[in-house]
Amino acid sequence: MSTSDAERLLVTAALPYANGPIHIGHLAGAYLPADLFVRYQRLKGEDVAFICGSDEMGVAILMRAIREDRTPEDIIDTYHPQIRENFERFGMSFDYYGRTSSDLHQETTQEFFRVLDEQEGFKLKTEEQLYDPEAEMFLADRFVTGTCPVCGFEEAYGDQCEQCGSSLSPTELEQPRSTLTDAAPELRETTHWYLPLEEMQPDLEEWIDTHPEWKNNVLGQIQSWFNDGLKDRAITRDVPWGVPVPPDVAERHDLDAEGKVIYVWFDAPIGYISATKEWAMQDGAPTKWKAYWQDEDTRLVHFIGKDNIVFHCLMFPSMLMQHGDYILPDNVPANEFLNLEGEKLSTSRGWAVWLHEYLEDFGADRGPDLLRYALATTLPETKDADFSWEGFQNRVNGELADVLGNFVNRTLTFAHRYFDGEVPPLKDPSDADEHVLDALSAAPEDIGQAYDNYRMREAVFETMALARTGNKYFNDTEPWHTRETDPQACANTIHLSLQLCASLSILFEPVIPDAAQRLRDMLRLADVRSSTPADAPDGALGWGDAAEPILEAGHTLGAPDILFEKLEDDTIEAQTEKLRERAAQRSDSTSDSDMDYANLKDNIDFDDFTKLDLRVGTVTAAEPVPDADKLLRLEVDLGFEERQILAGVAEQMAPEEVEGLQVVVVANMAPKEMFGLQSEGMVLMAEEADGTFVPVSADAANGSVVR
Ligand code: 2FM
Ligand code: ZN
Repeated sequence: MSTSDAERLLVTAALPYANGPIHIGHLAGAYLPADLFVRYQRLKGEDVAFICGSDEMGVAILMRAIREDRTPEDIIDTYHPQIRENFERFGMSFDYYGRTSSDLHQETTQEFFRVLDEQEGFKLKTEEQLYDPEAEMFLADRFVTGTCPVCGFEEAYGDQCEQCGSSLSPTELEQPRSTLTDAAPELRETTHWYLPLEEMQPDLEEWIDTHPEWKNNVLGQIQSWFNDGLKDRAITRDVPWGVPVPPDVAERHDLDAEGKVIYVWFDAPIGYISATKEWAMQDGAPTKWKAYWQDEDTRLVHFIGKDNIVFHCLMFPSMLMQHGDYILPDNVPANEFLNLEGEKLSTSRGWAVWLHEYLEDFGADRGPDLLRYALATTLPETKDADFSWEGFQNRVNGELADVLGNFVNRTLTFAHRYFDGEVPPLKDPSDADEHVLDALSAAPEDIGQAYDNYRMREAVFETMALARTGNKYFNDTEPWHTRETDPQACANTIHLSLQLCASLSILFEPVIPDAAQRLRDMLRLADVRSSTPADAPDGALGWGDAAEPILEAGHTLGAPDILFEKLEDDTIEAQTEKLRERAAQRSDSTSDSDMDYANLKDNIDFDDFTKLDLRVGTVTAAEPVPDADKLLRLEVDLGFEERQILAGVAEQMAPEEVEGLQVVVVANMAPKEMFGLQSEGMVLMAEEADGTFVPVSADAANGSVVR
């Protein structure tokens, strides 16, 4: 269903975990693209509900609380208001920002769970699970680490191996250890509810087939999950934080609900529903949420980052299908990741730009628009993208200030100086004038199509292209000459330049809402529909009106003002310096005596060591492995033979950095198949505290034995 066919839009942006402050990677992943889309739709006059909130019930919160010796409530009460305020400052125009610790959310989740249970939508399985006898707790997800059975990575988590990306369950880990006490866990029986994804795969495949228009990065990931075959997923946990399993549901199965909670990836997406309910209640129309979630005339769009694809494209839809009363998402335009200065964002390494710090440095009034624009032009829509401070300065100075700001300023200044601050009339337009009128009439439709198809970057480029057209037109028609040689031509240039400014003040509204409003103030252009949830006055101008000249001849203009100040080199250098200093401090603090060294393993016999066949080899070729973000396929010359080895280094090293390296290889590692490829050995790497990989190498002939 396209927007124009749908009666209303329900747009969600991933609920951020309330366990830390948010940074530019969050904005670029889900929130800014969602906000651009929503503001554009509101300007078009669409009925939109834009829903978000804090994700507060999961293990991520509990872990932070345990690490900091605080309560989970304390953690969420610290970060929820901070995140909400940051979003507000950056203009995220949610209709409602909720939190999943609310009573209504707990009730909604429990009711959803109850309905699925009554419809026999779950499987119950009693299995042996890892239990920490010291902490007296079952070890779910990230409470346990161990060796990945797929790639041998020794720090894999109970739910996922971050090296090869495999999705795991805790009992699959080899040599598991509790992250709470470091104890070796024991096995104990426990019963859990499972979502039967394996049997739902055909229905999910059939549904996904109806959406060939979804983004390639999203469809590609879904396809690889289908190829591997979906596995049933446990949706309850034995941990002390989460939405409790309703006792009556447990009783149906002669079970005790005590100590059991619902898995966060079951409750969090239901958070979209409960927040919509709270919004409806706040609006005094408590039942209106139903139309947004249950009426086929609603178009539901989830904005998320790529790590959330499986949950929004398979797991949540399977829950909605099973329930039966809900619509399914029309699109899930997931973004890839944003890097910073060429490196992966890392909160633990301090390699991030936090929104609250940015506001301190660039100001809460003028700062947000600059970042919104720079990020909007750098969104990781089809592949990972890079934010650099130099790039930020170029966008602000070279585009916002030199193109848009300059055009607005020269137009308004000229109108004040030579036309008494009024819009001069347009008469007998020349070819150049007609060309501008054509550009104006095409712009809203063209830009709108890009937004409607989730190509936000293109939409923003096209909007700036209209300002460029304006600047070029002003230059080419030379009003400073025609003022004396052909006054009507001069009036036409200023008339049309002002019309362009007026249209730009609408078309730029989704991207830089504060500057767009200041531009409208300079033009004394009132009665434009709001791009925020505010009510639109009757007859207000909207997106489509930007296709035609808006300002009447004779209309009185306000005073010109500088739309954007340029950023000095010093300001930018201070930011890069701050980033590097902080990263250096973190790596220093991890290299002093209280550094978290990996624990020493138990002693082994010399005989155990001699079982390893370590050889020197040279990497002769390296390339990415399709669909495996973390792996590189290497060809390694061991002197006596060539081997294909899959190494989990893709996030730390580019293929060209690996190619040519002399490395040490575990040559008698049993071959293993990953992503359809055979891996015939393992390349040794030293991992530094900050996650950097340094190859273990030996300047010796290929094939030499290392002992
Ligand atoms: O990945 C995350 O940050 C999750 N908190 C996103 C949840 S999205 C939704 F389902 F609530
Ligand atoms: Zn692995």
